[in-house]
Amino acid sequence: MSASTWSVQRLLTADDAQIDELADVLIDCVEGGASVSFMHPLAHDRAVAFWRRVAQDVAAEKRALLVAADARGLCGTVQLIFDLPENQPHRADLAKLLVHRRARRQGLGAALVRAAETTARDCGKSLLVLDAVTDGEAARLYERLGWVRVGDIPGYALMPRGGPCSTTVFYRTVGV
Ligand SMILES: CC(C)(COP(=O)(O)OP(=O)(O)OC[C@H]1O[C@@H](n2cnc3c(N)ncnc32)[C@H](O)[C@@H]1OP(=O)(O)O)[C@@H](O)C(=O)NCCC(=O)NCCS
Repeated sequence: MSASTWSVQRLLTADDAQIDELADVLIDCVEGGASVSFMHPLAHDRAVAFWRRVAQDVAAEKRALLVAADARGLCGTVQLIFDLPENQPHRADLAKLLVHRRARRQGLGAALVRAAETTARDCGKSLLVLDAVTDGEAARLYERLGWVRVGDIPGYALMPRGGPCSTTVFYRTVGV
């Protein structure tokens, strides 16, 4: 385990430099074939526009944004979405778990999920929900960390270079 090569923190605001680095992480994941809402190729300005919207939600406390940095800058991230219907105040969606290819397979994905779970608990949330490409690397990670597999939705989204993919819905209780 090379935990000493990166650190995870929650950002309460995101500046232009951080948004730029997060855009690079997102673009790298799409280039690597990850189905994370965007088609390939993802232009830098579109990725920046996405992170600017996220930063606005973070400032409005509608989302929590966690990031990981290594010696080269931001290399991983995950979000908690709090902006849910008023009858679900105890819940958050976990979204956009992204690790740059340079930092993968060192435990960072797991560390980000664990940090998001802790953040959710600290924010008074007791139930987390997410979806991930069926049988993909992320789905394996969530199962390994104890998330409960609810079921699959065939043909839910497109892979970044085209072709349908199934998604799997997971949940986890984190306790208050
Ligand atoms: C899914 C993703 C976040 C995982 O990130 P990661 O940092 O590689 O995750 P981890 O290192 O915790 O675990 C990944 C694998 O590395 C292994 N690993 C962890 N630490 C290791 C180490 N020190 N040495 C060797 N292997 C290690 C894990 O056991 C796991 O193995 P498995 O895939 O065979 O189950 C990353 O692949 C990614 O960003 N993918 C693209 C975006 C995406 O799909 N996001 C999910 C949206 S729902």
